[in-house]
Amino acid sequence: MNDALDAAGPQAAWIARLWWISLWLCVAVFIGVMAALGWALWRSHRAAAADGNAPVRGDRALRVLVASATLLSSVLLVGLLEASVLTDRALGRLPRGDALSIRVTAHQWWWEMVYEDARADRVFATANELVIPVGRPVVVTLEADDVIHSFWVPNLHGKKDLIPGRSTTIEFRADRAGRFVGRCAEFCGLQHAFMAYDVVALPPDRYAQWADHERTSAPEPRAAEAVRGRELFLTGSCMLCHAVQGTSAQGRRGPDLTHFASRSHIGAGSIANSPQALARWIEDPQKLKPGANMPSHFLPPDDLAALVAYLETLT
Ligand code: CUA
Repeated sequence: MNDALDAAGPQAAWIARLWWISLWLCVAVFIGVMAALGWALWRSHRAAAADGNAPVRGDRALRVLVASATLLSSVLLVGLLEASVLTDRALGRLPRGDALSIRVTAHQWWWEMVYEDARADRVFATANELVIPVGRPVVVTLEADDVIHSFWVPNLHGKKDLIPGRSTTIEFRADRAGRFVGRCAEFCGLQHAFMAYDVVALPPDRYAQWADHERTSAPEPRAAEAVRGRELFLTGSCMLCHAVQGTSAQGRRGPDLTHFASRSHIGAGSIANSPQALARWIEDPQKLKPGANMPSHFLPPDDLAALVAYLETLT
């Protein structure tokens, strides 16, 4: 599990700094208020214990103290406001030269990632995994297909909503390599909790290798079982919703599966990707992710095995 305050880029570092300033300031104020409360209780207790006619001493000093404390808390509040405004400005100042442009569309309940390029033949799509190069700014265009979702990778930036019919952007940069947890941060229905994705930051040369590989069509299956699996995929209902580049499957309702086997999870973080998990998923996605749009497919065992064998070739 990632530590949400362990910033991996400038945006998250600004937000973490603001968080720590707010925390320590509030801790100091809390301690001050508790000390004043304790002192007032002690004072009233002492006054009650003393003779009722004894004069109340130190009244002027007390008034000055209360006035200064009120002034100080106003100053602290304005200070926090200022810190928040300055952080917001700093977040908007990320240099965007040479930025990588990715369009992320949120669906109930998965993420579609399209890597844009001026050349149409260099555009490619993945799902539930955002791979980015270290040290290069990324501009993510956010769109939603159905309801409002929220894009949140705590190690890189704050939250931003994806609103149907509107297009917004979020910009960030990862300054070190790593795998960072991404979440949907707005309740969006039954499977809101299983709308996870990973952001994988790779050194630039490894990112370039990865992107070149993603642009290639799906590899040709060789084993007889996998070839039969592809036949089933292309003649059955799979291709109505899924695309596999280099084949006639061009469905757009579900995730693009061209390099499916290289992904870490199935069903947007629902289950780790393995042949056994995949078989369970194809057979009855509703058991693993109730409410998901993918219907159950109770296939004959050898058909299921052939489909799994084919999908496992999609590295
Ligand atoms: Cu999508 Cu919560």
